[in-house]
Amino acid sequence: MSKAKITVVGAGNVGATAAHIAASKGLGDVVLIDIVEGLAEGKALDIAEAKGVYASAGNLTGITDWDMTADSDIVIVTSGLARKPGMSRDDLLAKNAGIVKSVTEQIVRTSPDSFTIVVCNPLDVMTYVAAKISGFEKNRVMGMAGALDSARFACFIAEELNCNIGDIQGVLMGGHGDDMVPLPRFTSVAGIPLTELMKQDRIDVHIERARRGGIEIVNLMGTSAYYAPAAGAVKMAEAILQDKKSIMSCCAYCEDEYNIGGAFVGVPVILGAGGVEKVVRLNLNDEELADLAVSVSHVRELVTVVDKMV
Ligand code: 2OP
Repeated sequence: MSKAKITVVGAGNVGATAAHIAASKGLGDVVLIDIVEGLAEGKALDIAEAKGVYASAGNLTGITDWDMTADSDIVIVTSGLARKPGMSRDDLLAKNAGIVKSVTEQIVRTSPDSFTIVVCNPLDVMTYVAAKISGFEKNRVMGMAGALDSARFACFIAEELNCNIGDIQGVLMGGHGDDMVPLPRFTSVAGIPLTELMKQDRIDVHIERARRGGIEIVNLMGTSAYYAPAAGAVKMAEAILQDKKSIMSCCAYCEDEYNIGGAFVGVPVILGAGGVEKVVRLNLNDEELADLAVSVSHVRELVTVVDKMV
């Protein structure tokens, strides 16, 4: 692929951080767009100047004009409201659905061949909205949650085991909400199943903390997390742009996989130049399947509501 073009929509905390990470890695030309005059321009200029320190490749542009995003390879959608203390991700539904709809219409107009990575909440439903409005093939529309949730799970495990976080492969499925389904049987530390290294009661503590990982941060600082969500989105973009064939959890369209029957939810996938190239099928036990079904039914309820809005 010639030099990649990555558009990040929304120059708030998540968007600007994603642009910064992508730029520092030299992933390609990064375009940061926001409707607020001066915001994307200012942040992009600041990041461009930081690139003078890193000496990483690629241009950085901050704009308000969608035409300048034309022919992007990847569009990372971060625009939308973030949670405040006391709010669930679902509380953002109506407002963010309208934003994702209009952003998606612009993506279709300017970058009809791009891959879309949705980061705004409620994540699985916003990914559905982007897919519905764009009409893009399902492998080209995905949501970033699994990379974040599994990184959180890995962070807590590494802290307790006092081991290298890079050795931990966390696996989670389901919607990006309190009923997400961390899977300790499939989570490993340097190839050793987590269940061999940690007692179930301690695993349960970390599962619960990963499920509540978003609100833990909202309660601490009054707004949503952004470093880890941005890092997760860029990891997905990198896997696609560099055709890494990485296996990671992300919000992807599932039909007969796990009996999901047509919904966007978190599942392990192979991410490469074809976007979501494959949904990886794990042999879940009855309890895991039941937990997944609960999570999927919650996503479905919200999709029914959002379908009347967009
Ligand atoms: C989180 O879990 C922002 O939903 C995101 O922190």
